[in-house]
Amino acid sequence: MKAAIVYSHKANKTSKAANLIKQATGMESLKDIDIEEADLSTIKGFDLLILGSPTWFDGELAVYWDELVPEIEDTDFSKSKIAIFGNGDQLGYPENFGDAVGLLAEVFENSGATMIGKTSTKEYTFESSKALEGEYFKGLILDFENQHKMNKARVESWVKSLLEQLKD
Ligand SMILES: Cc1cc2nc3c(=O)[nH]c(=O)nc-3n(C[C@H](O)[C@H](O)[C@H](O)COP(=O)(O)O)c2cc1C
Repeated sequence: MKAAIVYSHKANKTSKAANLIKQATGMESLKDIDIEEADLSTIKGFDLLILGSPTWFDGELAVYWDELVPEIEDTDFSKSKIAIFGNGDQLGYPENFGDAVGLLAEVFENSGATMIGKTSTKEYTFESSKALEGEYFKGLILDFENQHKMNKARVESWVKSLLEQLKD
């Protein structure tokens, strides 16, 4: 299986989250791609893409995704499974908690990808989030500001569920 994890290597907390995810997968072949150096061809052709973005500016995707988003929406990703992770601050931004996870998910849903890695919203307190789908988030949201002690367990349980869903 060809798999990659894609995020900004300059983003401090996202990089920490990515490192936890890499460790939890135990996949030595997992390609580590810096979104700030990537173009469409860099992220095409993978069976599994694990994509990360913090939420910025009251509910926006981090700006380094902006260039690629329109190209992704015009591309067929139907052969890829996509899992999304992101960071948010549920106390500081309760109305836009982890919105980037939902925004990025929508981009890939529009390009025909199979989305995996939903998570429970239990244990989070917030008002609204674009990452919501019913009672679930469309990916993993870590909150370094308020719940950093839960990061490792959240990542491990998420990665375990991803590996299960890859068998389907
Ligand atoms: C200016 C600013 C705006 C933010 N906006 C949001 C937001 O709308 N929703 C949210 O959940 N978190 C928001 N955050 C929190 C960040 O997503 C969080 O701190 C994240 O861990 C930063 O990750 P990074 O270090 O990888 O950039 C914001 C943080 C800053 C500094």
